Amino acid sequence: NIRQITGRQILDSRGNPTVEVDVVLDDGSLGRAAVPSGASTGANEAVELRDGDPARYHGKGVRRAVDAVNGSLAEALTGVEAEDQARVDTILIDVDGTPNKGRIGANAVLGVSLATAKAAAAAHRLPLYRYIGGPGARLLPVPMMNIINGGAHADNLLDFQEFMIAPIGAEDFAEAVRMGSEVFHTLKKMLHGAGHNTNVGDEGGFAPNLRTAEEALGFVVRAVEQTGYVPGEDISIALDPATSEFFRDGVYDYAGEGVKRSVQEHIDYLADLITRYPIASIEDPMAEFDIDGWKLLTQLAGDRAQLVGDDVFCTDVARLNEGVRGHYANSILIKVNQIGTLTETLTTVDTAHRAGYTAVMSHRSGETEDTTIADLAVGTGCGQIKTGSLSRSDRTAKYNQLIRIEEELGSSAGYAGRRALAVRS
Ligand code: PGA
Ligand code: ZN
Repeated sequence: NIRQITGRQILDSRGNPTVEVDVVLDDGSLGRAAVPSGASTGANEAVELRDGDPARYHGKGVRRAVDAVNGSLAEALTGVEAEDQARVDTILIDVDGTPNKGRIGANAVLGVSLATAKAAAAAHRLPLYRYIGGPGARLLPVPMMNIINGGAHADNLLDFQEFMIAPIGAEDFAEAVRMGSEVFHTLKKMLHGAGHNTNVGDEGGFAPNLRTAEEALGFVVRAVEQTGYVPGEDISIALDPATSEFFRDGVYDYAGEGVKRSVQEHIDYLADLITRYPIASIEDPMAEFDIDGWKLLTQLAGDRAQLVGDDVFCTDVARLNEGVRGHYANSILIKVNQIGTLTETLTTVDTAHRAGYTAVMSHRSGETEDTTIADLAVGTGCGQIKTGSLSRSDRTAKYNQLIRIEEELGSSAGYAGRRALAVRS
């Protein structure tokens, strides 16, 4: 049973404060979890509580969330059985009492929820992925590695936020990391050679001053080829244009490119990119409130590419069910802090799979050294993870944890490979 819960304020990868929670059980088992934070957040995400005190951390302090962890949440959960994750999460939801966890803060709630699961796993002497997924949890995910950053994650003109490579043809996860790292370093040389800067953005990808998505795609394809891999065979491309960020007054406003596209023009543009580049997956191809656009694109291209709902679903099972009923998207991005508890996260993944949607475990642009999502990717068997580039420890920590999990599983480990991204037509 839970003996003690301690919250503290630590720093995330952008240097902003975030919540870390320790949960200690009666037998001394410790679970520790740190909470991530997004920059291009969906309107319907669970609410991250910030102090708003301009005198401290420019208003971004999380002392009120930490106080809630140490106060009302610790009080409500002390003595509760840690293995009963559903009950723990129900108590967390009830103590907060709001639909979006805005009173106590989803950052407080998530920290306690994840740390409890980790403490329970430790008490059972099980790695987290096995505690969550059982003995069948053996599938290592295809990583979507974000090697060019734009949008809200970088100080450049690229309208699209993320250009990722997915080594679908790797034999195993460690080889996927090797392939990604090799392409990353080839790309660095190519960008440097072309006179571009090779500084990295929030997720560790390069942030060159390119203007158009096609320029960036050209660099990615050439980097894959020059490294000796076949685009589309060994390595596919995945995009997250994060279009909610540039959908204004009913049009897609490509400000960096200097072009405005109507919904139909934007859809035709994406469909054309899918035809001309080895793009296997597009996340948030349409804005969160452009549901008609989502439906049109899914009809047109849903059998050719994975269309991943991030902002439009916010890891919320009710929103996902609307997508399933309304026939839009065919995949969902899973971010634990969008919904706020482990139980709700697992329910959403499960619901997606039963509806024939793929699910992609995901980091946030603001991360920490916490590697919980690596274990969740294997524990849920979802087969895909997006956790940034091949640089910066907040990103590579997750890849490194997956390398360790693969080693631990030994010959029973599987690699999801190209079938992970296959969409139902
Ligand atoms: P965020 O970006 O963490 O800044 O929201 C990631 C994404 O859009 O997938
Ligand atoms: Zn996204």
